[in-house]
Amino acid sequence: MQIPFIDLKTQYEAYKEEIDKEILGVLSSAQFVMGPQVTKLEENLAKFTGSKYAYACSSGTDALLLALMAIDIQPGDEIITTPFTFIATAETIALLKAIPVFVDIDETTYNIDPKLIEAKITSRTKAIMPVCLYGQAADMDAINAIAEKHNLVVIEDGCQSFGAEYKGKKSCNLSTIGCTSFFPSKPLGCYGDGGAIFCNDEALGEKIKSLLNHGQGKRYEHKYIGINGRLDAIQAAILNVKMKHFEAEIAKRIEIGSRYNALLSTADVITPKVMDERTSVFAQYSIRVKNREAMAKKLGDAGVPTAVHYPIPLHLQEALAYLGYKKGDFPISEKVGNEIMSLPMSPFLTTEQQDFVVNTIKA
Ligand SMILES: Cc1ncc(COP(=O)(O)O)c(C=O)c1O
Repeated sequence: MQIPFIDLKTQYEAYKEEIDKEILGVLSSAQFVMGPQVTKLEENLAKFTGSKYAYACSSGTDALLLALMAIDIQPGDEIITTPFTFIATAETIALLKAIPVFVDIDETTYNIDPKLIEAKITSRTKAIMPVCLYGQAADMDAINAIAEKHNLVVIEDGCQSFGAEYKGKKSCNLSTIGCTSFFPSKPLGCYGDGGAIFCNDEALGEKIKSLLNHGQGKRYEHKYIGINGRLDAIQAAILNVKMKHFEAEIAKRIEIGSRYNALLSTADVITPKVMDERTSVFAQYSIRVKNREAMAKKLGDAGVPTAVHYPIPLHLQEALAYLGYKKGDFPISEKVGNEIMSLPMSPFLTTEQQDFVVNTIKA
């Protein structure tokens, strides 16, 4: 049985009529950038998360970059974050010539360990950037409390956790600024690149809105040096359709993730743990195995694709070697990076397909 890693084809077939209609609507309106579809999406996103302000933008990476620009990050400023994430988290910090300061992860959630943060705070620290990896929020209360004590901003990298809940609140509305990605494989994905930024402060929101459109206020009047970080109307139209189905998809993701956990409880693997008062949207369903390469090969041969998110923690990436970290600096990130393996996951994964994945692992 050949199983898709993420089943975007079945999802498109399910919503095809609505999506095609909306795309054709944008084509015939000839309004391709900004416009009513983007405004409607921003309203939908704000309502969904409970954030006062939501701004659609060109990608999750640009969302992070814009968040850092909005709080005026300068060269030499330090931002505390996790090394166990996708490169974009630290890349955006480095692009502004600021310094990513890494803190190791908690071995249960794979998110930044708040207990280790305070030791890394210096007079140059400006913000903490937790990542809600694999779809589960980091320990945001603990992180926000440290930030408040030291007068720091918290930027949530919610690129994998859009739709997840933390103590009854939605991811991306858990701190000063929330950022997410609508890359096609994300829990809420468009058909190209896309992202969004969330906040509750009016002045900050106005600045973000301006920065993502070349720092413009009125047309051709530029208050800030910004970027072209706009989302296009076709992507917004697709996302507006997908948002109608998103709650149902989240429920499916939670059901499939819990079923994986139950079925794999008797296998020799470590399954993901969802903490009390949190939900995970399982952007990835990732287990830990001791013999990863051999298991990935056997699964692949049987038609079960797997992936590794992420094999090399950021402190060991060549592009960030100038930061001066070395092997052994973040032992939990390194250990998890050696063992982690993501299995097929999407709201359209059938029970039969899931049983096949689990039985192949057990075999
Ligand atoms: C944790 C994390 N941060 C940032 C990004 C960047 O998002 P995008 O690919 O939309 O630029 C991603 C997506 O791959 C991600 O997983």
